Amino acid sequence: MTTVQENTLSVAGAEAVSDSDAVSGPDAPARTGAWWRGAAIYQVYTRSFADSNGDGVGDLPGVRAKLPYLAALGIDALWFNPWYPSPMADAGYDIADYRDIEPSFGTLADADLLIAEAHDHGIRIIIDIVPNHCSDRHPWFLAALASEPGSAERSRFWFRPGRGEDGALPPNDWQSIFGGPAWTRVAAADGTPGEWYLHLFAPEQPDLNWTSEDVRAEFEDVLRFWFDRGADGIRIDSAALVTKDPDLPDLASHPSPHPYEDRDDVHEIYRAWRAVAESYGGDRALIGELWIPDAERFTRYFRPDELHSAFNFPYLCSAWDAACLRSVIDETLAIHAPVDAPATWVLSNHDVDRHVSRYGRADTSFGLDRREHGRPVDLDLGTRRARAAALLTFALPGAVYVYQGDELGLWEVEDIPSQLRQDPIWRRTGGADPGRDGCRVPLPWSGAQPPFGFSPDDAQAGPWLPQPALWSDLTVEAESGDPGSMLELYRAALRIRRREPGLGDGALTWMESGESVLDFVRDGRFRCVANLSSDAVVLPAHDGVLLQSTDLVDGLLPPDATVWLRIGG
Ligand code: GLC
Repeated sequence: MTTVQENTLSVAGAEAVSDSDAVSGPDAPARTGAWWRGAAIYQVYTRSFADSNGDGVGDLPGVRAKLPYLAALGIDALWFNPWYPSPMADAGYDIADYRDIEPSFGTLADADLLIAEAHDHGIRIIIDIVPNHCSDRHPWFLAALASEPGSAERSRFWFRPGRGEDGALPPNDWQSIFGGPAWTRVAAADGTPGEWYLHLFAPEQPDLNWTSEDVRAEFEDVLRFWFDRGADGIRIDSAALVTKDPDLPDLASHPSPHPYEDRDDVHEIYRAWRAVAESYGGDRALIGELWIPDAERFTRYFRPDELHSAFNFPYLCSAWDAACLRSVIDETLAIHAPVDAPATWVLSNHDVDRHVSRYGRADTSFGLDRREHGRPVDLDLGTRRARAAALLTFALPGAVYVYQGDELGLWEVEDIPSQLRQDPIWRRTGGADPGRDGCRVPLPWSGAQPPFGFSPDDAQAGPWLPQPALWSDLTVEAESGDPGSMLELYRAALRIRRREPGLGDGALTWMESGESVLDFVRDGRFRCVANLSSDAVVLPAHDGVLLQSTDLVDGLLPPDATVWLRIGG
């Protein structure tokens, strides 16, 4: 086998990439087409990224300080989970003011600097907008509570009288996604029990009523506010839940059309949002958080005047199994092709168990209703598969998402003491669902013990969630320059992905390489082979190895490994 010197970045031979060796930046190789079609997007969970002021909570100055790290990683954009003022009943997804920054994260001036500096590095900024609900401390909800039933203030939400004697029962049978009923009763002006309000998530997250003109106008204005400040894209939270059947019927008796999921009238909202985005020159992207099993209904969101793309949750949930992954990949590409929307690929995010742990379990498939901790996890196996999954994912056509810490190989922290857990899911299900704290633990940057450089040395508070002592091997410092580390694999892979003309947006051609092997070719003499079988496999003819997730053994690709090959032109 000949090696392609110029492009070779094998695991064993990978060279350390220093922070100054940025591959982002204005001079980075240009991608053809719209940026969001093939971008590598890094998800920043601000609270857990980097703490600049020692209060144990990550913040925007902390992110600014790490921009060189992110640029060197080779990503194209950052997606920030909600960064607005919030009582944090749901980690910022309960927003009290859509036009400011959460004080523990910094100020609006910090956000402006961050956006400007990221742009200087050639990194785009995607922010998270939550249209389904706000915080129960939002001025609109406080005004609604202070107003009479039937008032204009209450009409921005879903207030209803209860059923049963004295209205003591919720208005319908809807259940909160976080557990328990989706309704909470408020007191009337005289202190007696009054109306109920709808909250599909926690009681602190009242659902907004999108039949209200105030609500529509307000969000279009919020979009303009952030586009004016330089945001390049919007991630739309719970995008398919936003509109409701105004009759609020029982779900049991009216399952179809669903009274609050993926309703036809939701599309007019995103058409209006697209018009706002287009008024900024056509480069601002709208990305939906859509969990919609029906392929045809999913694609409706990508009609030319609606959203640009969405997260690919079937891919994330797929078992580590060649047949399952192949069918998800095929279906994804088939769904997106007719509407010319780019596919996206995501392995982890702030709502799911980290994939190193998922892939180390006996059952590697995942579902939001199956977040079950305490099952045996083989971390070595999970890490090996996560490495293979990264190369498979980055070679697929479309855009990719990296959740902070994926690049370090962090695993799900399953042993957070109960009294420290913060996720409302854990609380509202009485602990039956462990919730999402385990994937939100602050990043380890350096040093041998917590806080691992997440906070400054003289910090007055520990990280808001405890970090495992074992993460001393997974810090950025420990992994930098280690050719066998996850970080160097990500750096190498993202660098190659940026410069390979065939990667990112485009098409793939499957090659048949035997059972349990995913083998495909991209334009530009690039071939990806992922071996999910239990035996080593012979590589197809090639001119050189660009990158491999595990060392080849006697020229064979071992199980749970992926290789990128240069093939003949
Ligand atoms: C989305 C977010 C999740 C949040 C929920 C309610 O699913 O990803 O973190 O709890 O919406 O806003």
